[in-house]
Amino acid sequence: MTAPRLYVDSADVDRVGRLLRAGVVHGVTTNPTILERGGRTAGEIPALYERWVDEGAHEVFFQTWGGDTASFLRNAEGIRALGDRVAVKVPATAEGFAAASALVRDGATVLVTAVYSVAQALACASIGAHYIAPYLGRMRDAGMDGDAVIAQMQAMCEGSATNVLAASLRSPADVVSLRLAGVPYFTAAPDVLDEMLFHPVSDSSAVEFDAAMERLSS
Ligand code: G3P
Repeated sequence: MTAPRLYVDSADVDRVGRLLRAGVVHGVTTNPTILERGGRTAGEIPALYERWVDEGAHEVFFQTWGGDTASFLRNAEGIRALGDRVAVKVPATAEGFAAASALVRDGATVLVTAVYSVAQALACASIGAHYIAPYLGRMRDAGMDGDAVIAQMQAMCEGSATNVLAASLRSPADVVSLRLAGVPYFTAAPDVLDEMLFHPVSDSSAVEFDAAMERLSS
């Protein structure tokens, strides 16, 4: 099984910076909604990229926009020009698939986002997209069995160049259950990532270790 990777799905620069500098996430994923929620503007994208790469991001994802293939491709150009650690997100619409396919053929790192069906995932694998992002929480919100659908996507991508990067993960348990289905990559909000690193007994054990060391040193 591919080693797991965590990404932070946020444009909250303080919290993203903390996770990057701690070295616990591989990179940062964003989309227009996340940028808006983080109080950012489109004009700040280049500065965000530079900042996150300086803070240790191996990969930074920005989403192209525009609705039609030509606009997706035009806006993707600016994203690709940011640097060699950038990946372009493209929504899983008919127009988006055409843009994603062209971007893959042109050598870009491409993630197809908001993938909701196994058939869409198969199409992503067939065009050679590097990543697909299914949204677990939103699938459940829509009454779908998100865990089962994503497990099938994972099985379907095995042996292809396409990797599942699961999103809309709302608890550490979501990450763990998808990992047990073989999913390699995960992106989650800072709250979920912080919660993944925490266990009360770990904290009380650390306090005990320090107390013992103090006694040993006195
Ligand atoms: O990247 C997916 C994210 O933007 C959606 O997460 O929890 O709002 O469904 P959520």
